[in-house]
Amino acid sequence: MSEKFEAIKKRESNLICNTYGRYPLAVSRAKDCRLYDLDGVEYHDFLAGIAVCSLGHSREDLAEVMAEQARKMVHVSNLFYQEPQLDLAEKLLSTCAAGKVFFCNSGAEANEGAIKLARKYMHTVRNEDRYEVITLEKSFHGRTLSTLTATGQYGPIKEGYNPLPEGFVTVSFGNVNALRGAINAHTAAIMIEMVQGEGGVRPLPQDYVNDIVALCKENGILLIVDEVQTGVCRTGRFWAHQHYGITPDIFTSAKALANGLPMGAVLCSDEVAKGFTPGSHATTFGGGAVVSAVAAKVIDIMLEEKMADRALKMGEFAKKQVLELRKKHPETIAGTRGLGLLFGIELAKNGPEIWKGLLEHKVVCNLTQGTVLRLVPPLTVTEEDILFFMRALDEVLTSVEG
Ligand SMILES: Cc1ncc(COP(=O)(O)O)c(C=O)c1O
Repeated sequence: MSEKFEAIKKRESNLICNTYGRYPLAVSRAKDCRLYDLDGVEYHDFLAGIAVCSLGHSREDLAEVMAEQARKMVHVSNLFYQEPQLDLAEKLLSTCAAGKVFFCNSGAEANEGAIKLARKYMHTVRNEDRYEVITLEKSFHGRTLSTLTATGQYGPIKEGYNPLPEGFVTVSFGNVNALRGAINAHTAAIMIEMVQGEGGVRPLPQDYVNDIVALCKENGILLIVDEVQTGVCRTGRFWAHQHYGITPDIFTSAKALANGLPMGAVLCSDEVAKGFTPGSHATTFGGGAVVSAVAAKVIDIMLEEKMADRALKMGEFAKKQVLELRKKHPETIAGTRGLGLLFGIELAKNGPEIWKGLLEHKVVCNLTQGTVLRLVPPLTVTEEDILFFMRALDEVLTSVEG
């Protein structure tokens, strides 16, 4: 570790709450698909701020939109009508079958809003005592008390926060009978990710999704899809649920929506939107002019440059390379999973060591569930970048396998 790194690490320990197990890397600059440390050393970025900077880092076109809007109006509050928010809403709604949107600031806040909307719709519009939300094992929905409770993971993420809110049930993944058994007279919604990101890059099988949709219909309950990580072209469609040919009653977005500025959204059908009325939900910063202007530009670029197609193509390219590499390392590489550029490499062993080796080879990615390398690079990633990653992985595996 360089002296500069040791110094920044020490400085932080005196200042910032100790919630993050940080990587041994301090980033001073980021451009396109590259990160630079304090000494100017370059890293290939296959993380994109955890699926956030999907159009690449520090773009001139987005910086211009940001600066121009910041000179005109940054924040006036949601007490006022504002065109940038409406321009964004029109663009966002044109990408899907939803009829209305509520803007907020993060993934957790979007999911919190979705849960509140499901309850409120059942209470106010349907006049039914339905409030319970069913989620899946290994899901991840956020860190607020209710999204944390919805999250199907255990350990430090949940420990010490009791009492957790009531009204959440988690069932085992892939088991329709478990879902059916969990539905009762108080169930308001089933909430899923189309590909579990934090849960190890696990796509939901199509048949399972069909069964979930059928269960929702039969029982008159809502389907909520958490597209915080999967949305905005990452999986090869603008929204991952579009791969499955389904229309959720509510879905959420955040992460890539404003390419690094904090923004979240709850999208829903016109029917479900009737649940929200003035005063029933709000947030100070949601849909602010600067983030809205940037997110609108993000959508333009995503559509004009066909980023969903690119994600699909690059995901396929990466898959081919990994399967090729598996022939050389059959004991360590178990396979690939994911959709588009929400791409997982399953490791049979030595996950943490391999992840660390990649970082030493100047490649940044993430390890989920201890065994799956999660690659969520900017969608602008090139074949050369992917080949660079594969060469590094080959070298690391060769060295780890001894
Ligand atoms: C599927 C999913 N939902 C919700 C969240 C929470 O988003 P945020 O960290 O913006 O609150 C995440 C974050 O990783 C996520 O992957």
